Amino acid sequence: MFDQLSALPADPLLGLISIYRDDTNPNKVDLGVGVYRDETGHTAIMSAIQKAARQHMETEDSKTYIGPQGVPGFVSGIKSLVFGTASSALSNQRVAGIQTPGGCGALRVGAELLKRVKGELTIWVSDPTWANHIPLMKSAGLEIKPYPYFNIETGAVNFEAMDAQLAKLGPNDIVLLHGCCHNPTGADLSFENWQQVAKRASEQGFIPFVDIAYQGLGDGLEEDVKGIRYLSEQVEELIVATSCSKNFGLYRERTGCLMIQTKNSEQADAIQTQIQDVARANYSMSPAYGGYLVDIILSNDALRTEWKNELDSMALRVKSLRSGLLENIQQQGIDKDFSFITQQKGMFSYLGINIEQVRQLRNEFSIYMADSSRINVAGLNTQCLEYVAKALKSVL
Ligand SMILES: Cc1ncc(COP(=O)(O)O)c(C=O)c1O
Repeated sequence: MFDQLSALPADPLLGLISIYRDDTNPNKVDLGVGVYRDETGHTAIMSAIQKAARQHMETEDSKTYIGPQGVPGFVSGIKSLVFGTASSALSNQRVAGIQTPGGCGALRVGAELLKRVKGELTIWVSDPTWANHIPLMKSAGLEIKPYPYFNIETGAVNFEAMDAQLAKLGPNDIVLLHGCCHNPTGADLSFENWQQVAKRASEQGFIPFVDIAYQGLGDGLEEDVKGIRYLSEQVEELIVATSCSKNFGLYRERTGCLMIQTKNSEQADAIQTQIQDVARANYSMSPAYGGYLVDIILSNDALRTEWKNELDSMALRVKSLRSGLLENIQQQGIDKDFSFITQQKGMFSYLGINIEQVRQLRNEFSIYMADSSRINVAGLNTQCLEYVAKALKSVL
């Protein structure tokens, strides 16, 4: 039977990890995989997470199953973190929620819930979008179409084109949006853009599905969810998938949350049973550990402040790397305008160079990035900025 199935090509981005590891060039720079790194290139465990882990180890007294929803304090903590304590949807108990195995798990359970709804739904994704959005939605059986999003010339959102597409959608459409720190481009919707998306959603009847995997890594914990919170007040139904991989550094603990805002609390109760049922049919229930740690942090003032401060300093480091890179590029006297680098948000930036130039950077300078020219800005450090800028000049 299995001889019918041949080996699949390696994931191009994950494949870069081993090529980078084996590269002996002392100047090598890894701008590939999207994980936060400190100045030394290390992805450290956040100090609040370490403290929460110690506390959890001392107090956990059983490994029996938790409920299908996951760690209840985690789900309610994430709901408040994303929707805000003043949210009318939360106070009216209109938001169902479930802990999931990472943001991917949240996206997938959300997609499968949509598959249970009558009618042929189309899910619209930004062009470009995070590569894994496509298989996550497709494997759930949803039809996917791209909406215009990015202007490669300006490095910013082409909102006019996006809005023109949204104006054509209807109640059988779902629009997948990046809550902040768009992956892969770093180009985010402005607050005015979010207002227009909300208006279109109300008028046209499509449902926004917001993926937020970088809350706190753009302009701050509150700023980064302004768009989602506005949408939540303006539309009746909304789907939000969140990840604790980056902002709590819990990558391998697979910690995420799916939240479904419904028209009323009765519907939220019904949807709660549906999403738990989707999870049950796939993996039964989410791993609990990461949820416990996040719950401990969010419900303890001192730990929460410590976590927020560390997250703020991570975001600040990425911002200063953006300015540093731009400064170095300008010092090299490169013709192309790269000023978009400091306007974009979060860890990613699309350099807008072609695949030959990407390959040349890899082969001649040991600078590794995705073929699309997406760089993980957090992979830079103050020591390599000049080297990267000079290499860029040379391939341009
Ligand atoms: C846009 C986006 N959504 C979701 C995720 C999900 O991450 P995870 O499943 O690791 O929590 C990621 C991770 O890179 C991402 O970039």
